[in-house]
Amino acid sequence: MNAVEIEAAVSELAAKPFDAQEFAFEFLRAFGNKETTIKKLRAGQSNLSDIQNSVLQRNHIHIAVCDKDLVSQKLKALRESKATEKAKAKFILATDGFNLQAEDLISGETISSEFPDFAEHFGFFLPLAGISTIREIKDNPIDVRATGRLNKLYIELLKENPDWATEERRQDMNHFMARLIFCFFAEDTEIFQPSGVFTQTIEQMSERDSSNTHEVISTLFHAMNVDHLERENIQLPVWAKKFPYVNGGLFSGSTEVPRFSKIARTYLLHAGELNWQKINPDIFGSMIQAVTNDDERGSLGMHYTSVPNILKVLNPLFLDDLNEQLEASKESPLKLLNLRKRIARIRVFDPACGSGNFLVIAYKELRKIEAQINELRNEKGRETDIPLTNFRGIEINSFPAEIARLALVIAEYQSNVHYCGQIEALQTVLPLSKENWIICGNALRLDWLSICPPTGNAVKVVADDLFETPLEQTEIDFENEGGETYICGNPPYLGSTWQSKEQKDDLEKVFSSTTKNWKALDYVAGWFMKAANYGALSGQKCNIAFVATNSLCQGQQVPFLWPSIFNKNFQISFAYKSFKWANLASHNAGVIVVIVGITNEVKQKKYLYEIDFTGGLSCKIVPNINPYLIVSDTVIVDKAMKPLNDLPVIDFSNKADDGGFLTLTSSELADLKLQKLERKKFIKPFYGSKEFINGETRYCIWIEDQDLTDAMTIPVINERIEMVKHARLSSKDAYARSLAIRSHQFKTPRKAEKTVIVTPRVSSENRPYLPVGLLDNSSIIGDRNFALYDAPLWCISLIASRLHWVWIGTVCVRLGLSFSYSNTLGWNTFPLPKLTEKNKADLTRCTENILLAREAHFPATIADLYDPEKMPENLRKAHEENDEVLERIYIGRRFKNDTERLEKLFSMYTEMTAKQAGKKKA
Ligand SMILES: C[S@@+](CC[C@H](N)C(=O)[O-])C[C@H]1O[C@@H](n2cnc3c(N)ncnc32)[C@H](O)[C@@H]1O
Repeated sequence: MNAVEIEAAVSELAAKPFDAQEFAFEFLRAFGNKETTIKKLRAGQSNLSDIQNSVLQRNHIHIAVCDKDLVSQKLKALRESKATEKAKAKFILATDGFNLQAEDLISGETISSEFPDFAEHFGFFLPLAGISTIREIKDNPIDVRATGRLNKLYIELLKENPDWATEERRQDMNHFMARLIFCFFAEDTEIFQPSGVFTQTIEQMSERDSSNTHEVISTLFHAMNVDHLERENIQLPVWAKKFPYVNGGLFSGSTEVPRFSKIARTYLLHAGELNWQKINPDIFGSMIQAVTNDDERGSLGMHYTSVPNILKVLNPLFLDDLNEQLEASKESPLKLLNLRKRIARIRVFDPACGSGNFLVIAYKELRKIEAQINELRNEKGRETDIPLTNFRGIEINSFPAEIARLALVIAEYQSNVHYCGQIEALQTVLPLSKENWIICGNALRLDWLSICPPTGNAVKVVADDLFETPLEQTEIDFENEGGETYICGNPPYLGSTWQSKEQKDDLEKVFSSTTKNWKALDYVAGWFMKAANYGALSGQKCNIAFVATNSLCQGQQVPFLWPSIFNKNFQISFAYKSFKWANLASHNAGVIVVIVGITNEVKQKKYLYEIDFTGGLSCKIVPNINPYLIVSDTVIVDKAMKPLNDLPVIDFSNKADDGGFLTLTSSELADLKLQKLERKKFIKPFYGSKEFINGETRYCIWIEDQDLTDAMTIPVINERIEMVKHARLSSKDAYARSLAIRSHQFKTPRKAEKTVIVTPRVSSENRPYLPVGLLDNSSIIGDRNFALYDAPLWCISLIASRLHWVWIGTVCVRLGLSFSYSNTLGWNTFPLPKLTEKNKADLTRCTENILLAREAHFPATIADLYDPEKMPENLRKAHEENDEVLERIYIGRRFKNDTERLEKLFSMYTEMTAKQAGKKKA
């Protein structure tokens, strides 16, 4: 269940007559517990409570129902209950059906409410459903409730008006919803008077059977579209005349309204009953975005982006600077004035704005700074200078685009009320401005310069303050000559396999003049490129920051994207290293993202932010950030076709192209019924990555050319060779067909003389070390692994080191939560100091110790041994020693952390490639 569904279920429970016997179970059901779980609790099987009439669910909640007026005592009993502690309950809850009290035992937060109102606190309990709550939702659940109500209404209206569900009419439907939202907000904020007039008018004027609801609403919308002068000339019913002229594009055009069923009418009235005054335009917008999207409705509102996450982009992009300026200007009215003028000229542009949350937060933050300036200048309550038109966006879907506009209008009104007062806010809100600054369209196709044209020169000398303050040249300190433009947002991430044909075309269009490799790029890369192009073409100073998938700063995407950006004279100005972008989805894994800020201004200081596993934030001020988000010169690790580091060549192993007929499971091998000698001669153990990591058994047919005649005399083997031949001949690939003449062998047969070092191509990043191992010369390595044939043993020490782990994790591709090892990107480029014979001997010893430590746990597999929770102590110690020895070779001591490891590796890489380039020149 998602938060909206939970809210609906909890509201229903709160509205029902209280049933003491059933309450606990119904409460748990409302938070998504399955019937089987409830059944077990009811039967007492899993009810761990030590208190009468109570239910205790392990790791979750202890609920008690009590006699009237004993709620506080009961809550105390729950808190003190041994079972509560033993079962690690996170919440306790007591109710007598009149009042309800609860406590979050982790944070110590409590709630106390009359029973029918407890649904308002549903956010408090969301962790019970595996949803980590976000402060704003907890404190202000109206946004979730409004989303739930509107969602029900939307679905019911589409059911009643199937023609409005068609592609052509969707926009009308979306427009209708936007109008409704405005009306609900207006009637609760005195924009419409008296309070609640919109919902009440519909309730009173429309028939209970809903037959004319659409006509009543249409009449109201019509009234809102007629300006007061014109009202004399048209006929409006008295009840509609109470409504002011709103328009601003919102009520222009057709005022047609979909027909209402009785249920839809009820839903509309329910939605109107909420108090929309407290609606939070930044939260609500993104929650409601999913209402009109058939694919996303299932996860309604759950991709909501929290304000702290948005501020991670906006603060370093420009708000930190403005706040610093404010601090530094406090004593100078003139500086304050200049800062206010500067703020009024700042444009914020989000070219994937959804329902406008980045723009709304940016607007609210700028208003906050402006209000502080006004206060310091003794001008509290002054009308704002910040025009809403400075907040621009592009959004591909029409509904969020409408909502974005509305959200900004609501944010402006709420800010006006907050900073200037209700009366002043009311004076300026209507009619709504007609200018449309949110464009509905494809950002990768639109010309950003026409949406956000370069600003000319402006404010330099401040005239209106001259009479108070002698103007000293030193006081004119602000640098913005023409108004700054900040481009920001969280565009769609979409890796290349998830992109539609149109989206691939978008990328091709954006990148065709800069790189051939755009096909491998995530969709979000298009926004960085468009923004850099915008900066270059506008001739302005330009600061840009987007949230992006971390793959943009890892592996192969780095050489494909970043040179094109740097070629436009941009550099990275700040970045957040990988962190989890959590949302409200239950049990959400969260996408791993980075935030990258780029600038075409020359900046000496760059800011590198990192969130550690406890959630703590650190910020380093550094001279340069490279596109892997490491403090280093801007260096890009490109594929190297052979090792740059004098290491032995790592191979792809045996590619098959055999239709699967040369490899055998144990039972397939048994079915061949080979003689002992035949088996010895023609069957070898085969290692794909699963076999290597999980210890599964597989075999393959291995025939040396000189043994082919012999092999063909064995009918079952001959049959297999024929099947391989058939598969190859049927292949579309000409090279595969050409292999049909040697169908007794793999496409690239390869076997060790003595030993082979194996490392899988893909492995989970949860393991603390890359899986690597040593096999004997009878082993055949499949192409899901890389192999080093007859290489020195100390190579294992390198691959098994933490240094190699961080290098591979950074420069190679990651597939979800897995590393994808690459010989060209990872092994051939791995920076390695020149190893002395002594170093090699030490590393060989370390390798042997690792292998011996594993041996001690025979027959544990690599998967068992490297399970991060269960890694055996002796093995961990052997790896620690290995890291110790290797890292001492690098810097004479252990590295402090992975960041230091990477900084060293990148600095060595820079030197190594410079040397190579020197060699090539010479
Ligand atoms: C990850 S959402 C971010 C929206 C908003 N900032 C938020 O946090 O909810 C990305 C937005 O980009 C929009 N989008 C997708 N492709 C687009 C395109 N080619 N042009 C403009 N907008 C696009 C989507 O509809 C979606 O609203």
